[in-house]
Amino acid sequence: MTIPKIVILTGAGISAESGLSTFRAQNGLWEGYDVNDVATYEGYIRNPTAVHDFYNMLRRKLQNPNVKPNAAHFALAELEQKLGSEHVLIITQNVDNLHEQAGSKNIIHMHGELLKVRNEKTGQIIDYFNDVNYQQNKFIRPHIVWFGEIPLQMEQIYDALSQVDYFISIGTSGNVYPAAGFVQIANQMSAKTIELNLEPSLDQSLFQTKIYGVASKIVPNFLATLI
Ligand code: APR
Repeated sequence: MTIPKIVILTGAGISAESGLSTFRAQNGLWEGYDVNDVATYEGYIRNPTAVHDFYNMLRRKLQNPNVKPNAAHFALAELEQKLGSEHVLIITQNVDNLHEQAGSKNIIHMHGELLKVRNEKTGQIIDYFNDVNYQQNKFIRPHIVWFGEIPLQMEQIYDALSQVDYFISIGTSGNVYPAAGFVQIANQMSAKTIELNLEPSLDQSLFQTKIYGVASKIVPNFLATLI
């Protein structure tokens, strides 16, 4: 039997049960903050300290000992372990490191990573666990893809989508492109497309199979049918 190529797109919903807020829910992150202020380069130029305060807060929250991977993250790591990294790729929009903590290896962080910063002058990316103080270092910015910026590793993503057999979208509302468009590419490749989410996403009509519920339940259950 040939082992299928599985591409998994994850969004904030997979980390909700781990204690991290999603963006667009009631009480979600974008209810308390204006995207234009904290998630655009223009906002950063206007008020770098406010932008650092926002990501410093998220970085601290992520490192709270109560924030841990949940059963959905672990089930994905187990899938990769069973089928092999060349068959299972996670493309995550999340900037947390819960997939890594659960043991997944083949991960693309298309929107960047909270526990990294980038030197704007040299382009160097380094691991970073503390608060950033703009007054002390004006060249360090969060390693986060802001609105209007190009997501990371797009070439590898399109390459993986061109060979995909199963495309599984987990915990994402389908509001943000290019990620929201990946299901269309997967359909063009005749892949099986599956949506696992708390509620129907904006893209729900494009998926062949849809299962709704909390990620910690529906993800392990669905992945068990693939192994
Ligand atoms: N299990 C499964 N799905 C859940 C759960 C849960 N426990 N809790 C919430 N969800 C679903 C919601 O129903 C929603 O459809 O997760 C989705 C989260 O949607 P968003 O908050 O829009 O997050 P996401 O789709 O990841 O956002 C994409 O937007 O602002 C940006 O850069 C940010 O990467 C982010 C991008």
